[in-house]
Amino acid sequence: MPAADAAAIEYAVRLLRQGRLVAFPTETVYGLGADAMNPDAVRRIFAAKGRPFDHPLIVHIASAEALNAWAASVPAAAQQLAAHFWPGPLALVLNKKPGVPGEVTGGQDTVALRVPNHPAALRLLQAFNGGIAAPSANRFCRISPTQASHVAEELGDSVDLILDGGACQVGVESTIVDLSGDRPRLLRPGHITRQALEGVLQTELLTPVLAGPSDIRVSGMMAVHYAPLTTAMLCPLPQLVAALPALAGGDQRIGILAYQFEMPTSRHIQLIRMPQQAENYAQALYASLRELDRFGLDRILVEQPPETAAWQAINDRLRKATVALNV
Ligand code: TXA
Ligand code: MG
Repeated sequence: MPAADAAAIEYAVRLLRQGRLVAFPTETVYGLGADAMNPDAVRRIFAAKGRPFDHPLIVHIASAEALNAWAASVPAAAQQLAAHFWPGPLALVLNKKPGVPGEVTGGQDTVALRVPNHPAALRLLQAFNGGIAAPSANRFCRISPTQASHVAEELGDSVDLILDGGACQVGVESTIVDLSGDRPRLLRPGHITRQALEGVLQTELLTPVLAGPSDIRVSGMMAVHYAPLTTAMLCPLPQLVAALPALAGGDQRIGILAYQFEMPTSRHIQLIRMPQQAENYAQALYASLRELDRFGLDRILVEQPPETAAWQAINDRLRKATVALNV
């Protein structure tokens, strides 16, 4: 895994031009990139992830100026959000230009676009001088990678190059706003909050229309997503304390993703104490779930963190990674 220096980026550009796959760091999570204008290359992304072909991908671009190359029209709201938040953890869904391959958009008339805020990603995009389609670099329905080693664990030899840019600063996937209709709609919460977006647009965002099982267009909206392999349950502190004796007895081994709860690690219990600030919690979330997963435990209990606005993306991901506590 080379560091994302000039030579590695030059090599990555050569691979992308040949239709090969390059994993690269962004500020949110690592992406699995391919030339967005090359349908064969884009198909390789789906094969590597084991992801259904009708799930659209985000096209990463070097700057907002490139919007016109991908979007049929760029509404004022898109200009405003791009000017305010790009480069940054925000993807905008716009009506696509006819030339954008259907492989990228899952056959839809819209395309998701984002300028990531990571120096290596920006250098790569500038050197490539085109759009890079990139979902998170994990296998379908698994936790997104926030370190280069996670990408190697997830995808092994099916990726041609992994650029190592260290640990991702944000740690959860971008906020997605759909601007293809009459009114803006929040499709996926992220580090950029609903309140921040509404402040810039001076209008309320619609909430996502929940996809039915046969029409799952935003994969992040599936009920189980971003899940660890170990069954994980989300519960408030009192329930966690009450349930623990029954769960961690006998030969049962439990992992705890704790917010306030404290208990020494023992034969039965692996505890990770999470940061108290939302930003730091988000940054550590996926790596911590991965770490607990590696112990091969019987269950993971996730202590419910705060539920205020700053924690919205975290709670969204926690709900998707867990099942209801039922003991
Ligand atoms: O932070 C991120 O966005 C990361 C990094 C690599 O940029 N990427 C990422 O990609 O999370 P992925 O594929 O794991 O999630 C992209 C989400 C999916 O839920 C997909 O359904 C949605 O974006 N999406 C993409 N194009 C769309 C479109 N045209 N309409 C609605 N949703 C779309
Ligand atoms: Mg993903």
